[in-house]
Amino acid sequence: MKKNKRKNRSHDTAKVLDAKSPFAVSEGFNQLRTNLMYATPADDACPVYAITSVREASGKSTVMANLAVSFSQIGKRVLLIDGDMRCPTIYNYFSLEKRRKGLSELLSGIETEEVATEVRPNLFVITSGRIPPNPSELLSSPKMKELLAEWKQTYDAIFLDFPPMGVVSDCVILSDEITGYIFTIHSGSDQANSVLFTIDAMEQIGAKILGTVLNDFDPKASSSYSSYNYRSRYSTYYASSYVKQAADLQKSLEAEEKKEKKDQK
Ligand SMILES: Nc1ncnc2c1ncn2[C@@H]1O[C@H](COP(=O)(O)OP(=O)(O)OP(=O)(O)O)[C@@H](O)[C@H]1O
Ligand SMILES: [Mg+2]
Repeated sequence: MKKNKRKNRSHDTAKVLDAKSPFAVSEGFNQLRTNLMYATPADDACPVYAITSVREASGKSTVMANLAVSFSQIGKRVLLIDGDMRCPTIYNYFSLEKRRKGLSELLSGIETEEVATEVRPNLFVITSGRIPPNPSELLSSPKMKELLAEWKQTYDAIFLDFPPMGVVSDCVILSDEITGYIFTIHSGSDQANSVLFTIDAMEQIGAKILGTVLNDFDPKASSSYSSYNYRSRYSTYYASSYVKQAADLQKSLEAEEKKEKKDQK
């Protein structure tokens, strides 16, 4: 994924599941949804899923927006929150106004009314609101816990988009409230050792990683994943042991590196 993709967000609405989405894409997200449901305790009436990664532009917001859609499609009442108050993008996926009131106004007390908006049947979105000077303080405030407790009474699942853990630690501020984290890995640019280091750091402070998503994976570039070809660019590798996945990923990255070097010769 090229860096300028981060700035050019005009086509993000086209990257959200709809009736015209290719089978491989909708199937990838449906499988991710199923695996997440298996990884969630059965007695959790409203799981709170969060997402992070090592670096920017690994596909977190895209995965979160689509997962939220995927859950809403099976009749779950879903709340998707843009918790990335530094570089918010969720508004884009659903053609919402960037400046609409959202999480930062709720947490700072500027807004007290409900700001969630239903963007698809069963799918409600709370955008980040105006970029505040103190996102970490707002996320760690008692108000955030209070709101989460309220939302848990109203929704069947909550999805929180966050900035990359390798850049700011906003995502773990609320780790006690999070059922589990999804960790996105950008194929070809995230190094396996950075992934393992970041996941390890999160675990040390009690964050539960439910699994990893290897995004933007080009099956043609790596023979070791040839059996996953049908999953196209949204390959999902959920399993009980993400460490094994990361080890597999390392092998894949090494294979890619070798291939690149060979091609350069
Ligand atoms: N598998 C994919 N194929 C094509 N484009 C993708 C894919 N995944 C993400 N993108 C695009 O790449 C850009 C970055 O993705 P996204 O915003 O989801 O990453 P992010 O990890 O949330 O970034 P940030 O760290 O800035 O929040 C977006 O324009 C998104 O539409
Ligand atoms: Mg994002």
